[in-house]
Amino acid sequence: MKGLILAGGFGTRLRPLTYTGAKQLIPIANKPIIFYGIETLIDAGIKEIGIVVGETGPEVRQMVGDGSRWNIKIDYIHQPSPLGLAHCIKISREFLGDEPFIMYLGDNLLKEGVRKFVDKFNRNSPDALILLTRVPNPQDFGVAQIDNNNKVIKLIEKPKEPPSNLALVGIYLFNKNIFLAVDNIKPSGRNELEITDAIQWLLDNNYNVESQEVEKWWKDTGKPEDIIDANLLVLEGLEPSNQGRLLDSLVNGKVVIEPDAIIENSTIRGPVIIGKKSHIIHSYIGPFTSIGNNVIIENSEVECSVIMDDARIKNIEKRIDRSIIGRGALISQTDHSPRTHRFILGDQSYAEIVR
Ligand code: TTP
Repeated sequence: MKGLILAGGFGTRLRPLTYTGAKQLIPIANKPIIFYGIETLIDAGIKEIGIVVGETGPEVRQMVGDGSRWNIKIDYIHQPSPLGLAHCIKISREFLGDEPFIMYLGDNLLKEGVRKFVDKFNRNSPDALILLTRVPNPQDFGVAQIDNNNKVIKLIEKPKEPPSNLALVGIYLFNKNIFLAVDNIKPSGRNELEITDAIQWLLDNNYNVESQEVEKWWKDTGKPEDIIDANLLVLEGLEPSNQGRLLDSLVNGKVVIEPDAIIENSTIRGPVIIGKKSHIIHSYIGPFTSIGNNVIIENSEVECSVIMDDARIKNIEKRIDRSIIGRGALISQTDHSPRTHRFILGDQSYAEIVR
């Protein structure tokens, strides 16, 4: 079975981070999101992966490479414009050939991996196997109505009156009949070829669509809060290690300190990861924080946040919480009069002062 990872799209909900980079390359526990998807597919025995890329294609290619680091083959498929998930299948026809494949949204994380879904697909040979998860807010998702045998009856995109609380997870297994479906559907109101419409086409034409509920957590990292939550979930599974230097500092819980990081007069309370060559001085780093490479944090407190490479945080009086700080950003506080706030924020940035 081949894998198809979707890493195009605009990522509008993650601006301004996505103005300067692909959302699939945002680090979760210091690893680009898309790496989790690639490794999940590899764990399920997949050795050939196609990655659909858009305008951020060059940087995705540069970061991911040709697959040789994992001993697999990775090809890239260029999508000229993000015309929908079903459009991604259409343009990948040549890469996919006639074999079944698993499609994986490049900004999704699934704790339990996909091996058992691949095995089930191989065992039952349906036309499609979709993954479902129970959510408290089904009106925000694609929702499935299923019968007693888990056969899917109907899919509805963001229903006002949801027929169930079973949301579609961004991982799908298909055989070649999906190509018929994507050729027969029309773009939606937002001018995208929708994957839900393609699967509904299979249902309407009596193809066999099976479903399976996932057992552990699934996270779609489309919005800033999702990045923070995904980081929290991944850090919970951290294996502690220390390759850095601790000077008069206290470390509790699961903490990874990468080579050449220096922690000085500070308290680190895990789960936390601190990247290479980062320097933490007179600071507190609280649970569920990922600190990238070459970061400097001085006289400050940070908790439940993602701090990317080369960022600097200096002398901030109040604790920084549930924040995402982009690469090379600087946040500092100085004690001058008049006491003011001074911001130089990129377009569609977000800053909140909590008193
Ligand atoms: P979405 O999160 O649905 O779309 P998006 O990335 O454009 O984000 P936003 O809604 O905030 O603008 O996409 C899910 C995944 O699929 C993501 O990794 C991007 C990828 N994708 C494509 O590769 N091509 C597409 O045409 C679309 C719509 C998404």
